[in-house]
Amino acid sequence: MTDKNTPSQDPQNLIADLLRNDSPIRLERMAYQPPLLPVFRQGVGSVLPMEGYSLEVLKAAREQLPFVSENQLLQIIPGDTMQEHPRRLGIVLSGGPAPGGHNVIAGAFEAAKRAHPDNTLIGFLAGPKGIIINKHKEVTGEMIGEYKNSGGFHMLGTGRDKIDNADKMGQCRQTCTDLALDGLIVVGGDDSNTNAAFLAENMRDIGVQVIGIPKTIDGDLQVPGLLQVPFGYHSACMSFATEVGNLNSDCKSDLKYWHFNRLMGRSASHIALEVALQTHPNVILIGEEIEDKELTIHNVVRLIADVVVDRAQRGMNYGTILIPEGILEFIYEINTLIIKISYIIASYDKEAWHEESFHKLPFEDQVQLIDNHDIWRDYDSRVFMGLPTELQRGLLLPRDSHGNFQFAQVRTERILLDMVSTYLRKQRGKGIYKGTFKNQNHYYGYDGRGSFPTKFDCDFGYNLGVTAFGLLANGCTGYMAAIKDLHKPLEHWQPIGIPLAPLMHLEERKGRLELVIAKQRVDLESTAFKTLTQERTKWAIEDHYRFPGPIQFYGPCADAKPITLQLNALDL
Ligand code: FBP
Repeated sequence: MTDKNTPSQDPQNLIADLLRNDSPIRLERMAYQPPLLPVFRQGVGSVLPMEGYSLEVLKAAREQLPFVSENQLLQIIPGDTMQEHPRRLGIVLSGGPAPGGHNVIAGAFEAAKRAHPDNTLIGFLAGPKGIIINKHKEVTGEMIGEYKNSGGFHMLGTGRDKIDNADKMGQCRQTCTDLALDGLIVVGGDDSNTNAAFLAENMRDIGVQVIGIPKTIDGDLQVPGLLQVPFGYHSACMSFATEVGNLNSDCKSDLKYWHFNRLMGRSASHIALEVALQTHPNVILIGEEIEDKELTIHNVVRLIADVVVDRAQRGMNYGTILIPEGILEFIYEINTLIIKISYIIASYDKEAWHEESFHKLPFEDQVQLIDNHDIWRDYDSRVFMGLPTELQRGLLLPRDSHGNFQFAQVRTERILLDMVSTYLRKQRGKGIYKGTFKNQNHYYGYDGRGSFPTKFDCDFGYNLGVTAFGLLANGCTGYMAAIKDLHKPLEHWQPIGIPLAPLMHLEERKGRLELVIAKQRVDLESTAFKTLTQERTKWAIEDHYRFPGPIQFYGPCADAKPITLQLNALDL
């Protein structure tokens, strides 16, 4: 047996040490214990209604969620709620992975054990499907020790199943009854917290309380004034910023490549905004602004190409460009196609007489079918036929289980790069462009989703888990656990319970209106966005590259927070 931290002198042991699955940094991370928020230092805390915020609930939400619609905004204050009998709780990770998820489990587990040593936490495997089919394992102290402060969701696995019909809801009720659960924690984004609200409503009569946890690297699960960011956002942004900073450094050294970087984040450009503020690239596309200015895809191509031409005139045939993955949704003409095609696919697949689903048809037949549909206009055909084939094919790709367009599957950065290249060729023909356009394209998404969490996300995730337990211990259901004032030092973070019903709006999914939690897009009036607009012209034509470097876990840089979070908290 070798000591885990000191390399052995024996060659065989040394080889074993060097190739050990647990890297030295992972071992160091396992040893870190995130601090508890002051509120929780004497126990699970007590809840109090929080005044000064008006949260309105839509009529449709009141009708579909009559019980949870009555919830009020809560704050957790110091106090200890005595627990006489052991509780049995479940936890599920849902949607895309986000760094800090293992700490949510750790926070909930350790809070539960502190409250009563016989409390049990059951982890559902592979996402919501684990609840539906009752696949689970009990979370143990050993598992927590192994996964604390590490990235990914692999302690339990995750999935995108939606509990969207009476059968699945019935199966969930059965599982919770069979496992004698008192409570369930759902860790996820907008769709998963929507699931949490419906589960809370539907499992009230069997005594199962449900609390959601805000997770998504995309950063779009926010509640203005109450929750500035979900967990996972900071780590993913820092992971992408590390890569873009490295490309800044490479292109500035070699002076010959334009790097087109697509960054995850489908329905909002929060990631692109944060990575831009971290790295100061030459071109930054923000979807919300493109939508606001009603730019077409050809306008976007022109916007990029103009910077390329401008820099070429100054002898700078290199640069970095940030493209949010969801940009297509913000270009009106393209989004119209996405919505119409989603509708046509959903209605085709719903009609039982077809032998094959839409996606089994050859591409040409799919186009034909779309072209013949009532909702498809001549104008739609003209826009569609004017797009590069790769984009046409991308628009027809299968939707996810929630009916969402899968932006991650479309190589938007490559498509834009090719369109820019074509445009530049024409400019060269006219004698306007004389530079060289050597280029590289990159996609940053799954890598950042699986990165180590920053210290911020470690502490945030852990205390979200503790908050969820605190809400359950106080008898709450139909809430999202959250932490207010994240821009302040941890000593001043405020754990709260946000009612889920007021966060909901009606959204078209699979061709029909559904009640779901609304995503928050980049606010064009925010200090973070306005700061970007003040700086970016300078960044476009001069080089002001910033090199944020890798995520730090020790030392003075370990306590970093998102720049957007800090800018938006400024009282200007
Ligand atoms: P969540 O909203 O579930 O957190 O996932 C977000 C995301 O990471 C997006 O940025 C990306 O478009 C998508 O997941 C990719 O999903 P998939 O895992 O299904 O490829």
